[in-house]
Amino acid sequence: MTVERSLASRLRDARAVTVLSGAGMSAESGIPTFRSGVDALWRGRRPETLATPNAFAHDPLLVWRWYGERLAHLRACRPNPGHTALVRIAALVPHLTIVTQNVDGLHRAAGSTRVIELHGDIRRARCTACGMRRTDHVDAAIAGTIPRCVCGAMLRPDVVWFGEMLPDGAIEEASAAAAGADVFFVAGTSAVVYPAAGLVPIAREAGAFVVEVNPEPTDASSLCDLIVRTPAGVLLPQHAAELEALVARDQAG
Ligand code: OAD
Repeated sequence: MTVERSLASRLRDARAVTVLSGAGMSAESGIPTFRSGVDALWRGRRPETLATPNAFAHDPLLVWRWYGERLAHLRACRPNPGHTALVRIAALVPHLTIVTQNVDGLHRAAGSTRVIELHGDIRRARCTACGMRRTDHVDAAIAGTIPRCVCGAMLRPDVVWFGEMLPDGAIEEASAAAAGADVFFVAGTSAVVYPAAGLVPIAREAGAFVVEVNPEPTDASSLCDLIVRTPAGVLLPQHAAELEALVARDQAG
């Protein structure tokens, strides 16, 4: 007879847990996902047409207005129970790494410490001339103007646009975390953007138990050992609570 192990027991026994998160992770914080139809459009434009070096070269003010509105919205957004559940799980496993495609900083705001931000952070900007990174651009962007560096040149959002390289070392570090995971969560991502999506087969081939947390099927679903069609903000707190109960039972003897 095969006894199916619970996810909580797999988490309790795991040396390393890795989470690949995407926009759906922040959906319950009120941030629209990228591919959620009309909600994802900004003034009728698809994000993919704005998040490119060409769009910025052609019309930097338009691109900054898009980021300015996102920054203004982000000020009112807080981590949701899915983000905080990962902090609770991290407290009970030796290594928990979050590899996120999100640029909203909400994993860190929730208290997660080991976070690899593959696509940068919308709350940072960098100079198009001298490369200096800054965080004092937010007010200018929200005011609908192009933020400038102290050297006078335009700043740009410190995020990865389509066609650009990921931050130095980020994918190598993320691949190592995927390959070393005993349990690998794919949470809130459509898994269509590479190289992030390529972490799922890396984890799977290295022997991780792969769990998808997403109300909808994705390109990664066929690679998952367990699929939970529940929002991350509901499912992850349930697993955190089950893990906490299991660890408390073990400690009680
Ligand atoms: P997408 O918008 O492509 O996918 C979001 C996923 O989240 C979908 O599969 C939804 O079904 C799922 N989802 C929605 N609500 C959820 C919830 N409450 N809990 C769990 N899942 C939920 O976003 P990403 O996969 O993150 O890249 O997109 C990847 C990249 O494409 C982004 O980082 C960005 C984008 O263009 C760059 O800007 C470089």
